[in-house]
Amino acid sequence: MEIISDIISLRQARRRWQVEAKSIGFVPTMGNLHHGHLRLVREAREKSDIVVVSIFVNPLQFGPDEDLAAYPRTMEHDLAALEAMGVDIVFSPRTEDIYPRGLEQQTFVEVPGISYMICGASRPGHFRGVATIVCKLFNMVQPNHAFFGEKDYQQLQVIRAMVTDLSMNLHVHGVPTVREADGLAMSSRNNYLTTPERETAPTLYRVLTDMADAIHLGRRDYSRLIQEQKQRLAEAGFKIDYLEVRAADTLLHPGHEDLRLVVLVAAFLGKARLIDNIQIQLEE
Ligand code: PAF
Repeated sequence: MEIISDIISLRQARRRWQVEAKSIGFVPTMGNLHHGHLRLVREAREKSDIVVVSIFVNPLQFGPDEDLAAYPRTMEHDLAALEAMGVDIVFSPRTEDIYPRGLEQQTFVEVPGISYMICGASRPGHFRGVATIVCKLFNMVQPNHAFFGEKDYQQLQVIRAMVTDLSMNLHVHGVPTVREADGLAMSSRNNYLTTPERETAPTLYRVLTDMADAIHLGRRDYSRLIQEQKQRLAEAGFKIDYLEVRAADTLLHPGHEDLRLVVLVAAFLGKARLIDNIQIQLEE
């Protein structure tokens, strides 16, 4: 496994693979890798000749109240895990190389509409930061395939929209969420949970599966269903950011014609802001 930190060396490697007609699979990450990330790497390994993983904690996607400095950095552990997975290249650039003109003047990519709702409403500018860094990384790596976790469902939809809108020449793959045995979605944020909070955390997924079951059984009074489940979460100790039933592709409020739905939740448990979702396919 080669570790590359500068863009010129990455481009040289990219040219080599092009000559050899190799397909490139790309997994962008912010490090602090867990089994969810490794599942993305496994998918990339299966679908491409060369696997590139980036590790870059992107300042542009952090809000002013979000602690960029405290974001967990575990490079040694991450590199060992990626090496064991047969990754070819780890791209780990410096912030100055990624944003050479500084953050204030950085040209950005904004995917309107879908970036402003749900998580985007709670975290203004977040998806602009994500779309911008992912676009830049795509320009550097020029992958044929890119892999994103479905846990960050809205992020995946924002990236799909960007790829369509900007006519980018690659396949975006959504990879199912990896869960702990009790259902909690794997996330770097789980590290912030205290022992009692960790015991409470799986309630989030139980709420999602109960809502999915109720919808499958015919419930369509979404507002009432949401209110009931919000109360359950609040009683368990969560501070709810949102709990929503949306159309799976557009993330708009669903109409009768929408058969693919997604239930999305974000809630604080102590310091940790946990997000999760469940997709629902209705019968015609
Ligand atoms: O999902 C993440 O870890 C980040 O948002 C991403 C896609 C690596 C962009 O910084």
